Amino acid sequence: ARKIIIDTDPGQDDAVAILLALASPELDVMGITAVAGNVPLDLTAKNARIVCELADRTDVPVFAGCDAPLKRPLVTAEHVHGRTGLDGPILPDPAMPLQDDHAVDFLIDTLRREPAGSVTLCPLGPLTNIATALTRAPDLAEKVQEIVLMGGAYFEVGNITPAAEFNIYVDPEAAEIVFRAGAPLTVLPLDATHKALVTTARNDAFRNLGTPVGVAVAEMTDFFERFDKDKYGSEGAPLHDPCVTAYLLRPDLFSGREINVEIETVSDLTRGMTVADWWGVTDRPRNARFIGDVEPDGFFALLTDRLATYA
Ligand code: BDR
Ligand code: CA
Repeated sequence: ARKIIIDTDPGQDDAVAILLALASPELDVMGITAVAGNVPLDLTAKNARIVCELADRTDVPVFAGCDAPLKRPLVTAEHVHGRTGLDGPILPDPAMPLQDDHAVDFLIDTLRREPAGSVTLCPLGPLTNIATALTRAPDLAEKVQEIVLMGGAYFEVGNITPAAEFNIYVDPEAAEIVFRAGAPLTVLPLDATHKALVTTARNDAFRNLGTPVGVAVAEMTDFFERFDKDKYGSEGAPLHDPCVTAYLLRPDLFSGREINVEIETVSDLTRGMTVADWWGVTDRPRNARFIGDVEPDGFFALLTDRLATYA
């Protein structure tokens, strides 16, 4: 199985991304590292453990990481995810412990211990933990197999400001470090994730699984959806972060281009914008595989099939 570390700020869609990974025998989730993002770190570290317990996977170690962006105050998204970050289902507080190690130490130690090119990082939140690890241990850029992250936008522009997607906006300096690190990088931006919409029929398919996981995912999506339906009039909630997991499982469902992507860190107006050279109008070096499209029916079939494997 492909070894991955999920770096996350759950978040209902992060939770679904984790559940999809833990249900997939092709993936070996070595650990989950929590970062401040959708809600503060104490809640994201708690929510990650709630999700592991829902999946009956208390063997997966969960680490707490950075509690604030590198250079800026934390911006959160309770307006999307609710006060807990995981509003919707009523799930018990976790009994499993947090690991003692800091998430950044776990990232560095694991990538240095494992054979080069054998561990993939899957960031689903602001890139603070990953950038801190790369800054402290620049050799990680050569050790990592790939970084496959959810963040950014090009044609779809922004969801937290007119110019920027939330994960990149929250910690643009961290994003710049990650995008310039030289590691193989695949980016799932809003251009792809805004096509992975949970319609009523798709959400019914989760609920009709009739299992604790199926019902919890349906309730998470019900909650998360309120924001997108009201705000954008879209068909249903976009399942942003599960696109990362689905990409690892079925890259054939996605299409994109190898392009240059730079991060805006100076302007207040366009802070965190992913300046994506989709049309190749500069000669700046290609540093990312930027995904522009996903095949939604295949994505939801995969997700529903895998969630169905939970008892
Ligand atoms: C991203 O921001 C968060 O709110 C979601 O969990 C996702 O990672 C989408 O912009
Ligand atoms: Ca997230």
